[in-house]
Amino acid sequence: MPTVSAPIDATKTSAWKALAAHHDKLVEEGIDLKGWFAADAKRVEKLSFEAGDLHFDLSKNLITDETVKLLADLGRAVNLEQRRDDMYAGVHINTTEDRAVLHTALRRPKDEIGTVMVDGQDAVADVHEVLDRMYAFAEKVRSGEWKGVSGKRIEHLVSIGIGGSDLGPVMVYEALKPYADAGIDCRYISNIDPNDQAEKLKGLDPETTLVIIVSKTFTTLETLTNAREVKAWMLDALKAAGAVDGSDEQNAEAIKKHFVAVSTALDLVAEFGIDPENAFGFWNWVGGRYSVDSAVGLSLIVVYGPERFQQFLAGFHAIDEYFQKTPLEENVVALMGLMNVWYVNFFGMKSHAVLPYTQYLHRFPAYLQQLTMESNGKSVRWDGTPVTSGTGEVFWGEPGTNGQHAFYQLIHQGTEVIPADFIAFVNTANPAKDGDQDVHELFLGNFLAQTKALAFGKTADEVRAEGTPEQIVPARVFTGNRPTTSIFGDTLTPFALGELIALYEHITFVEGTVWGIDSYDQWGVELGKQLAKQITPAFHDDEALAAQDASTKGLIEFYRKHRK
Ligand code: F6P
Repeated sequence: MPTVSAPIDATKTSAWKALAAHHDKLVEEGIDLKGWFAADAKRVEKLSFEAGDLHFDLSKNLITDETVKLLADLGRAVNLEQRRDDMYAGVHINTTEDRAVLHTALRRPKDEIGTVMVDGQDAVADVHEVLDRMYAFAEKVRSGEWKGVSGKRIEHLVSIGIGGSDLGPVMVYEALKPYADAGIDCRYISNIDPNDQAEKLKGLDPETTLVIIVSKTFTTLETLTNAREVKAWMLDALKAAGAVDGSDEQNAEAIKKHFVAVSTALDLVAEFGIDPENAFGFWNWVGGRYSVDSAVGLSLIVVYGPERFQQFLAGFHAIDEYFQKTPLEENVVALMGLMNVWYVNFFGMKSHAVLPYTQYLHRFPAYLQQLTMESNGKSVRWDGTPVTSGTGEVFWGEPGTNGQHAFYQLIHQGTEVIPADFIAFVNTANPAKDGDQDVHELFLGNFLAQTKALAFGKTADEVRAEGTPEQIVPARVFTGNRPTTSIFGDTLTPFALGELIALYEHITFVEGTVWGIDSYDQWGVELGKQLAKQITPAFHDDEALAAQDASTKGLIEFYRKHRK
């Protein structure tokens, strides 16, 4: 197995230096999107790309032909293509955990069985073995052949998981709602806050409910606590409904019919009492936040069906292939990652908005927050040395048009410049008319208006020409030159959604590679977990309380005083 060489310090490369000089020159001459558009009739054509069935317009970014060339040079200077190929081939690029990073193998079609061997195993064959089992299971549930313990068909799923075992499934569940066709819905429980579970279980009929426990490690505090509680709820509720008599034998039967699990730790699943027949595995080479297209997506296969899931996987694969086969200068996936580096490291922009113009993608920014920030929010490189530049911008967002009436003010006129990705689709699942007005067009008009306003702004003279009193002219000026990328698709299909997810996975990879980061570990989540274990007893135990720092002690004393 090839080993991973030490990261190249991007800041020491001639490509980085050339980018720094190019940046300074652009700033000195004046960043001027309006002027750049006027000076180059081909700007849009040159900065528009097609990847899979998505259309990308990068023209409203703070880049020129020269920037694109230099960004591609930077990619080559840090061996981006080699590292990408290493990742696709199963090299252990996750160095701190000594693991391969093979989410791309999850979506390779059956005819690619045999192409990716990882630690002596045929990864693609393993993937399809589990997919086929999941498809068969999902068909049984969807057709009603799978019955609850009292013989009723399943109408509701409860999926228990957190982080990568929740954010992806929830986001896709919400995004693909128009495709639900089996009369089965899903509620997702993630938070250890008992309020989450209480609200999600409200009104559920246990006899028609199937619970999916999703946890890569099957040790996560939140998920295991919720799983035990839901198991108790299910057995009590089934007994109250007269579906079981509460005997061990009937309870075991109920668990068999109402609980399935998804994990890499199938031994722990069995220990929990779940029949191994009802357990679906994945592998340590799938990172939690890269796992929605693995068995972690089981709830989606049940709700939307195997065919739709196959289309979803095909979308990922289309972008994987595009990313691997397209030269860097023309590779919009790589360029979007490199452009993020351009904004973070050369312009000092610290956040990045993702603004979907479809309500169905309302959980997409939240999903991206884990994908991007758990991956690249790091200060050391993959060989343990400190990073040599800023890393990990904050990703955030909300769907338009809602965001327009909330935080867009800051994007348009704030002192921070925030690059933004706008995502929209030509067709909608729910066409609507307001009189003669097509409401979807009204919606899309807003998407286009926002990117136009951000790019080209409004000058003081234009404001004055509208008859604005002089003293409020400055408040009504828009500087423009606020960068946006427009991603336009035909329809938000399962295929298009797979494409979008793969796009951001690879953007994250590109940024991590330039920064020399292992984007696939997450040690930064560990300390809080350890401390929570140590602190929790202090709510009742004086010795544990005495061991805390003064602030924690004060807060626990407040708790003790007010606990009802
Ligand atoms: O605490 C962070 C984390 O490890 C994430 O990386 C992961 O997606 C999540 O917890 C859930 O982990 P698991 O799937 O093992 O329950």
